[in-house]
Amino acid sequence: MVRETHLRVDDLIYPLFVTEGSGIRREVPSMPGVYQLSLDRLNEEVEDVLALGIPAVILFGIPDHKDEVGSGAYEEAGIVQRALRQLKKAYPELVLIADNCLCEYTSHGHCGLVRDGEILNDETLELLVRTAVTQAEAGADVIAPSNMMDGFVAAIRDGLDTAGFKHTPIMAYSVKYASAFYGPFREAAHSAPAFGDRRTYQMDPANVREALREARSDVEEGADFLMVKPAMAYLDVVKALREAFPHPLVAYNVSGEYAMIKAAARNGWLDERAVVLELLTGVKRAGADLIITYHAKDVARWLREED
Ligand code: PBG
Ligand code: ZN
Repeated sequence: MVRETHLRVDDLIYPLFVTEGSGIRREVPSMPGVYQLSLDRLNEEVEDVLALGIPAVILFGIPDHKDEVGSGAYEEAGIVQRALRQLKKAYPELVLIADNCLCEYTSHGHCGLVRDGEILNDETLELLVRTAVTQAEAGADVIAPSNMMDGFVAAIRDGLDTAGFKHTPIMAYSVKYASAFYGPFREAAHSAPAFGDRRTYQMDPANVREALREARSDVEEGADFLMVKPAMAYLDVVKALREAFPHPLVAYNVSGEYAMIKAAARNGWLDERAVVLELLTGVKRAGADLIITYHAKDVARWLREED
């Protein structure tokens, strides 16, 4: 009766890694229970997600070719575009969120175009817009740009509007820190940078006032959702954004957060269920409306058992 915060299955967004090939359901070594899936194995996974009552998935692609300009991100027949078409047709009720970035598709693994070791911001924006439009055409309900280029929300908003997708919302990774907790994701998505790091475009973990500034500029550019990433070490940032903006707020409980709990649980050092429910309740208490989490299927099962 007096509980102030509730973690619910409708708060959850489950990440999916889609890969070329067939018959593939390959577990990510550092993320037990998370799989790279080829298109012919994708629907069985999604049926599980839907049966558990999870309303939304976010898609990441693993292409079979990478190049300097990340063409796989914006091809009409790109891996994510094909996955979107397939899922929209089979499960119209499922909310399809498309991650929008180039790093899984570039040979150098950076989120933008690179020349002489520098990221080319504005030239990258054009490619991100093409990515967003092809994703929307393929059936994406929400575009989630994670690239952290300057001006990405305005550029994508304008591109979507011009292409006739005025109603497709943007879930901006507004506050994305240059975090060491993304390690397992980069293994899952084959997206580690070949040189350097992402500190010129991702944020310094020491900064919270800058987080508010980033979020404010995304709001001015037309963001519909705001996001903080990672979650656990950044709950004060979640709270700061909650207090400053009325927008739906998403926290991304990232791969490294998942991996460390799985590892400890496998050793019998932690009670996985209790720890995950406590942590995610904390993320909601801090002010998040929605949580992207690799634990979504586990949480959905646990919540069902509690009823
Ligand atoms: C790519 C992207 C990353 C994540 C989501 N989109 C990795 C990165 O920036 O290196 C991380 C997700 C996770 O760790 O779970 N732009
Ligand atoms: Zn990226």
